[in-house]
Parts: sequence; structure tokens; C-alpha cells
Amino acid sequence: MDKLVIEGGKPLNGTIKVSGAKNAALPILIATLLTDEPCVIENVPSTLRDLRTTFRLLESLGKKVVVEGSTVKVLSTGSLKTQAPYDIVKQMRASVLAAGPLLARFGLVRVPIPGGCAIGLRPIDIHLKGFEAMGARRIADQGDIIMSAPKLNPVTIKLRFPSVGATQNLMMAAAATEGKTIIKNAAREPEMEDLGRFLQSLGADVRGAGTAVVTITGKTKLHGARHRVIPDRIEAGTFLLACAAARGRVKLLGADASHLTAVLSALKKAGAKIKTGKSWIEISMDRRPKAVTVVTKPHPGFPTDLQAPWMSLMTLCTGFAKVTETVFENRFLHAAELGRMGAQIAVSGRTAVVAGVESLSGAPIMASDIRAGAALLVAGLAAKGKTTIARVYHIDRGYETVERKLSGAGARLERLK
Ligand code: EPZ
Repeated sequence: MDKLVIEGGKPLNGTIKVSGAKNAALPILIATLLTDEPCVIENVPSTLRDLRTTFRLLESLGKKVVVEGSTVKVLSTGSLKTQAPYDIVKQMRASVLAAGPLLARFGLVRVPIPGGCAIGLRPIDIHLKGFEAMGARRIADQGDIIMSAPKLNPVTIKLRFPSVGATQNLMMAAAATEGKTIIKNAAREPEMEDLGRFLQSLGADVRGAGTAVVTITGKTKLHGARHRVIPDRIEAGTFLLACAAARGRVKLLGADASHLTAVLSALKKAGAKIKTGKSWIEISMDRRPKAVTVVTKPHPGFPTDLQAPWMSLMTLCTGFAKVTETVFENRFLHAAELGRMGAQIAVSGRTAVVAGVESLSGAPIMASDIRAGAALLVAGLAAKGKTTIARVYHIDRGYETVERKLSGAGARLERLK
């Protein structure tokens, strides 16, 4: 298994190009199941492991996927299957998003129930309640959920929590359901807006995607479309935090500052200088960060996906910083690894209190999920000496050519195969 070896403690200086958003590309590619016509999706971070899993999912369901760099064509090869294979769902929970389009189009779908993962239990009850509200019946069979409905009905659904996946699943189902579906308390992440734009270009009428109330007037027959995926705000945020922790000046090209308001505001409070333009963000940092307390929340709050790398930054703060995780119940696994580098973190339930230290020291450490991996990367770049990160495959799920991108900004890191 690959390892990343970092010679840390060197400031970052240079430019980094941000890739297309993994978490926007995944649902958009899965939404191509809504049509038999060709779709062309641009700015896809196609080398990421989760994207490769998505291509395999689409192919297992009967699509043909042609990847040319960051442009992905999804073509029809005949009729689609309505059963998602367990070996794909267990590798990538987002596979459950195939349920919405397949159920709406074919009145039947069978998907394995994704289990929990390192960051929490991650049930899918909100997805299922939404489908039931639209008229689907469900039975559980050998670890799978089978959902059926002669046809889904357009309804008004209020989600008990603004789940990202449930909002996407229901938006896709609604796009292929004749009539007006209203989703209330919907997730407001920029990825919802991007999916909404794609569904609109397939021929559905979508209003309010990216706000708490989404109204979708669907059609049983949707057509093909071309779409460009938004930039990855979490990748961009991770690089900003890496620069804030290691110090220096980095310009992110292709980043959208409007997707990162809460993070940029916290970074400014910590003492970073931030400049933004139409599709770039520049950060410079020349001192230890001030302590800034953050609480993760659904968008537009501080994103849970940047909580772990934020904690790495705060390990170096001048004072005490609190980090509270409200979205997932078990997303502090990075704290113990950071402790191996000299960080002082006390975790109690969903809150961690970080007592800032002058510097971290390099150590052999291990990633436990994508963003915990990102946290270790940030810490390793800031720490004095050599850090070796094991289980890099977690980082590879969410960050394209990470060592190349960071080396371009002066970081010293290499991959050991
Ligand atoms: C998406 O996961 C992202 N994944 C996650 O990114 C991200 O952390 C998360 O949204 C929150 O922003 C993708 O977009 C592929 P949720 P998702 O449904 O859809 C509970 C990363 O690092 N919940 O909003 O699974 C759930 O257990 C990944 O790139 C229910 O209780 O997130 C969790 O505590 C990790 N019942 C909370 O809601 C449900 O039916 C948020 O989950 C659904 C969710």
C-alpha cells in the first residue's frame, strides 16, 4: 500500500489548480441514469478512486462510460438494470444515489443497504421515507432494500434533517416524476445547485436548488445534456488550510470563494490574509494562527468535511480552540494521530478542545478516512521533520494527484509505492 512521505516545516509558495468537485460529479454522473441519450460531463476529477467506482457502478447498471481526461461521456448500451451490486456499494456509499433515478424510471430498484463507516452510522432513512412519501413500497431482503411503485407521485416532502444524499436522491427521483415535487428543509450545499442545473439541462424544471425549498416539475422522458462540474470547495479549503498551517502564500486557481464563506471567515479570524477574485482565492499567512472556535453545520455553516484539516491548523494556535462536530457522530479519529505529532487535543463527545503548541513534529501516522487523511497532510506539511502517512488510499478518494499539486507550491513530499 502506498505511503506519503513529507519533509515538513517548509512554507508553501505558488499556485495550485483546483479540480472539479468530487461530491458534485458523483450525483451528476449517477443522474445520467435518468436518460437514454448521451451526456457529456466536463471538469470531472476522473482519476479519483470514488469516480472510478462511479464509472463501474454506471457500467454495471448498463451504461457505457468513456473517459477523456476530465471529460466523461455516458452513453446508453440498451436497457438498464435496476439492481446495484453490493461489491460497488460497499466501496462507495454514494452508490445508493442510483435508487432515485432507477425507481422513478422503472418503478423498481434493489440496492444493498450501505453499512456505517469510520465517521458514523450513516443511515439512509431520510432517503427511504422520501421515496415512501412519493408512493414507493419497500421490503428488506438479505441486506438489500427493494423499492417498488407502479409510478411515483409528485408530493411535498419535509426532510427531518437537510441530508445531502437524501436531497440529491429525491431531486433525481422528482426529475423523472410527472408533476410538481417540493422538497422542504433540503440540503443547501453548492453541490445541490450544480445537480439542479444538470437536471434542468436534462429537461426537468428545477427551482430553488441550493436553498431550503426545492421545487421540481419532472417529466417521464428526459434528454441528454452537456454539463460542467463546479470546482471542489473541499479540496480548495484543504489547500488553504495547508498554507495557513505551513505558512507562505498560495493562489488557488479555479476556486469559488462564494462556496467557502464560513471557512474564509474563520481563516481571516485566525490571522490569514485572503484575497479573492472571480475564480481564484489567494491566502497568505506569516504567523501562528489565533485560536478560533468552529462548529460544523450543514451549508452555509462550517463544513464537516473541513473539520479535520481545520483541527490540524488549530493544533498550532496561540491559545485554546474548540471544535464541535454536529453532522457526524464519530468524526474525530484524526485527533489521536495528531497527538502522535505533539498536538494537544482533548475530545469529549462531539467537542474537541485544542491547546495550541508552538510546533508539531513529524511522525509515522495513519489516515482513517478521506478528510482525516487531509488533516494529516496539513499537519505533516506544517510539522518539523519527516511525516509518513499510511493508508493513503483514503486521501486518493478525494484528492487528485495531491503530491504533484502540493509539490508545485513548494511542498516536499513523495509517494512510496
Ligand atoms: C455527503 O454525504 C458527502 N458525500 C459527505 O462527504 C459529507 O460529509 C456530507 O454530505 C455532509 O456534508 C457525498 O457528497 C458523496 P448526509 P451524505 O446525508 O450524503 C445523517 C467526504 O468527505 N443521515 O448529509 O452521506 C448522517 O448519518 C464525504 O467527501 C441520517 O440520519 O451526508 C449524518 O450524520 C464524507 N439519515 C448526517 O445525516 C439519512 O437518511 C449528514 O449526512 C441520511 C443522513
